[in-house]
Amino acid sequence: MKILVTGGAGFIGSAFVRMVIAETDFGVVNLDKLTYAGNLENLKAVERNERYRFVHGDICDGALVDALIEAEKPEAIVHFAAESHVDRSILSPEPVIRTNLNGTFTMLEGARKHKVGRFVHVSTDEVYGSLEAPLEATEEFPLNASSPYSAAKAGSDLLVRSYFVTFKLPVVITRASNNYGPHHFPEKLIPLMITNAFDDRPLPVYGDGQQVRDWLYVDDHCRGILAVLRKGREGEIYNIGGNRSLPNLDVVRQVLALTGKPESLIQYVTDRPGHDRRYALSSEKLMRETGWAPAMDFETGLERTIAWYRANGEWVARVRSGAYREYYEKNYGGRETVG
Ligand code: NAD
Ligand code: DAU
Repeated sequence: MKILVTGGAGFIGSAFVRMVIAETDFGVVNLDKLTYAGNLENLKAVERNERYRFVHGDICDGALVDALIEAEKPEAIVHFAAESHVDRSILSPEPVIRTNLNGTFTMLEGARKHKVGRFVHVSTDEVYGSLEAPLEATEEFPLNASSPYSAAKAGSDLLVRSYFVTFKLPVVITRASNNYGPHHFPEKLIPLMITNAFDDRPLPVYGDGQQVRDWLYVDDHCRGILAVLRKGREGEIYNIGGNRSLPNLDVVRQVLALTGKPESLIQYVTDRPGHDRRYALSSEKLMRETGWAPAMDFETGLERTIAWYRANGEWVARVRSGAYREYYEKNYGGRETVG
């Protein structure tokens, strides 16, 4: 089988491409615009493989998407490409709406025109919004997005579903919880805290740090997507959770303990506007239908992730240069220290 992956140079997409090349006989065409989050260094392990091809381009470019699908004739599309960071979506919503909504539309149109046999849309638990404990979202839960990022993802989920209902495009939607692991851009909680701790810089905790996220090791997520690609039922939604809910402060404290740094580095700062308090997911449907289960426990996964960042200081230095510093100043410079 040949698959067209979008966003395969990002954190999760690149882990998926590396896994598919290593563990299956599939061919992979990777369409990626190489935004600040896309990094071909993440694909070094596969760049010379004859089953892999990279195409530099924008998923919003309808002519390019059309010509690419026509030329490559993929049997399936796995759609990762998105603007993925909530804080950036608050600072600047326009690129998020463009890529996450318009880009998904363009990919759906290409898939419809060329009758692609399967369209896996990679989405997020954020579309369910904040849930009171002990609720866990099943796939039937209402969409209740809070940020421009999650609203655009929720909108794209509905668009994908409409192509199934209206045009019979064989789509499947996945909704995963917070991923962590190697190659994660250091704007997200875990890699930001690890890299700041290494440098003895303050660890900025939003609000009281009691917001809860469910942590999923990136390879477990990718195995879940592969399971859905192979066995997911058309038109269905599958949650993919890590089954490990933790308040942010606990995560930050674990990072400090594992890096041997003091808790005095924690700096409470002004909260994220519209900050969702708690995400929680039930992955029972995916487990029941495909046999998938998350394999990595959080402590081992976090240790491995920290070890990867320790061994890849040059990768960190390169992605943190220039534009990253500008973003850091914009997002954190204006926040007050609280408490
Ligand atoms: P990322 O930001 O690390 O990577 C996004 C990739 O998409 C980059 O390679 C970027 O260059 C590419 N891209 C962005 N705009 C593009 C465009 N217009 N055309 C082509 N390529 C473009 O994101 P990630 O964390 O790897 O997330 C991948 C997907 O998984 C996203 O759809 C996200 O919503 C979803 N997701 C992420 C998480 C998480 O915890 N990170 C959890 C659940 C779902
Ligand atoms: O739940 C899945 C989602 O997880 C994905 O869809 C998104 O693409 C991904 O970015 C992630 O969204 P979050 O907003 O949950 O992740 P982030 O790493 O930005 O933040 C995790 C928690 O940590 C959140 O409650 C905000 C908090 N936080 C984050 C940063 C960057 C801080 O307290 N301080 C920080 O500096």
